[in-house]
Formats: sequence, C-alpha cells, structure tokens
Amino acid sequence: MAILLNYQGHDSTPWAEAFADMLPTIPVHIYPHIPNPLDIQYAVVWHHPHGDLINYPNLKAILNMGAGTDHLDAETELPDVPIVRLLDPDVGNDMAQYAVYWAMHFHRRFEDYRRQASRAEWLSHEVPRTAEYRVSVMGLGLIGTQIARRLALSGFKAQGWSRTEHRIDGVDTFHGSSGLQQMLSATDVLVNCLPLNRQTRYLLNSETLGQLPTGSFVINVSRGAVIDDDALIALLNSGHIAGAALDAFVEEPLPADSAYWRTANVFVTPHISGSTYAKSAARPIADNIIRIEQGKQPFPIHIPPQTT
Ligand code: GLV
Repeated sequence: MAILLNYQGHDSTPWAEAFADMLPTIPVHIYPHIPNPLDIQYAVVWHHPHGDLINYPNLKAILNMGAGTDHLDAETELPDVPIVRLLDPDVGNDMAQYAVYWAMHFHRRFEDYRRQASRAEWLSHEVPRTAEYRVSVMGLGLIGTQIARRLALSGFKAQGWSRTEHRIDGVDTFHGSSGLQQMLSATDVLVNCLPLNRQTRYLLNSETLGQLPTGSFVINVSRGAVIDDDALIALLNSGHIAGAALDAFVEEPLPADSAYWRTANVFVTPHISGSTYAKSAARPIADNIIRIEQGKQPFPIHIPPQTT
C-alpha cells in the first residue's frame, strides 16, 4: 500500500513529512516518481494531471488537498472511488478572517481614512450601525457557514444564501432564486463563497450583481468564474458597486492587463484568503485514510455536481 502525493505547483515535502509522521507504515510517493502504480491506494492530490487518476487500479480514495474540487469535477473519467474534500478548520478560519477584514474595511471606510491621511486630513464619516450593516454570504457549505457565523460574531447583520434551505444560528438565511433576489437587494457587502460548477458559473452577472443596492461591495473568496468580470467591472465603473476585494480569478495569476488591476477601489489578492498549511491540513487527510482502513466512511465526501 502507498500514497500518491501531488501538490501541483507547491512544495510537497512538508506534506510527505507530515504523512510520514502521522501514517508511519504507509510509504508516500511524490508524483511523478511512482515505482509501482499497483501500490497506490490513496491519491492525495491538488490539480493532478488530467486523466492520470485512472492509472491506479487499486485506488481506494481520492483525497483533495483543497476545498475546491473544480479541477476534479472537470475530469472526464475518474475511478469509481470516493472523492474526499479537505475540511481544514484552519483554512475556513483564515477565510472568515479575510471576509471580516474586508467587510470592516468597507463598512468603516478605512480606505477613505488612508487617503485622507496622505493629505493630513482629519475628517470623520458617519457609517451605519454594525448591527444593521448587512453582510451576505453566497454558498453555505462548510466554509461559507464558518464565514457567516464569524461575520455574525463580529456584530454584522449576517445573511446567507444557498440553493437549498440551510439554517444557521444568528444568520438570516435565504434559498432558491427568489431568496437570492431578496437577499441581494438587501446587502451591503456580498461575500461569494460558492463552489464553481455548472449551476454557479457566472451566477453573479449583470442581472444578479445589478440587484445589489447602489454603493454595495463585493468580496470573492471562492472561484473567479462565479463572477462575470465584465459585468462587475462595468458596475464598479458606473459606481453602482463601490468596491471589491477579489482573491480568485478566472485566470491565475491575474494577467497584468486585467482591468481589475486598474479599477478604483478594487483590491486584488493572489488567492491567499485561506492558506493551506501542511501541519494542520495533513491531519484530516490522514484521519480519513485511517477511517477508510478501519472500514468507516471518510468525511466530507464530494458529490460531483453532474450527479446532483
Ligand atoms: C483553494 O482555493 C481551495 O479550494 O482549497
């Protein structure tokens, strides 16, 4: 038995060390150095080369090294084994902090104070009460729920939307297309935390983004293609949307000629809202491997969107 490890584009070494520590009896082979494909029972991967996962006939599970599974959903052929998402509370924690940071930034007008400071200008601005400032999370999966809860704990009027009904203590929740319209029209800051799939691609377009009140803000912590960039840029330029903090893009790194770099009040960050640290993230993966070895169900299993 062996683990195939491929943290594409990143250093796999700390992960290999963490697994050697947590699963000392299972050898770890770092892609593409796989001495014998028949040994591979667990594929721990991130953006693994398309089509490769069918080359391991004894595979028992695919363990994704991130929250987003869009690269696996894009595979045309996958072995018939469970796909397990990474649920690392540290990642959700960082993403919640990112959302709270930017919600505060927009609500309290910190950018205005930064600009004023450069002119030594002492001028205060009135802002809505925090408890009335409506910060809405789209996508109430495990991370979206963590973000919505943290926004509520920070004192904001937290709201959340999902395709099907979810209830979260302290968060006003909406669902379905009428719920989406209802929430968007009563939102000061929209936080996109939706996974990217057929139903969510460009869900935030000129029609839906246009339902946000004038002067609202957008934060994106999930995937770029949930947002129609041209629509968002047009709404930013017209002033309908007052600013955006964007951490995910259709093309990453964001090309130098992207209008986002040059649009006022757009804050681009290079996909860092939730960093994955081998030290914390290897634990739930190792626990899932132990669970499978004990004949138990891993958690959380990803259901590919085409089957829902
Ligand atoms: C990062 O974007 C992830 O999906 O974990």
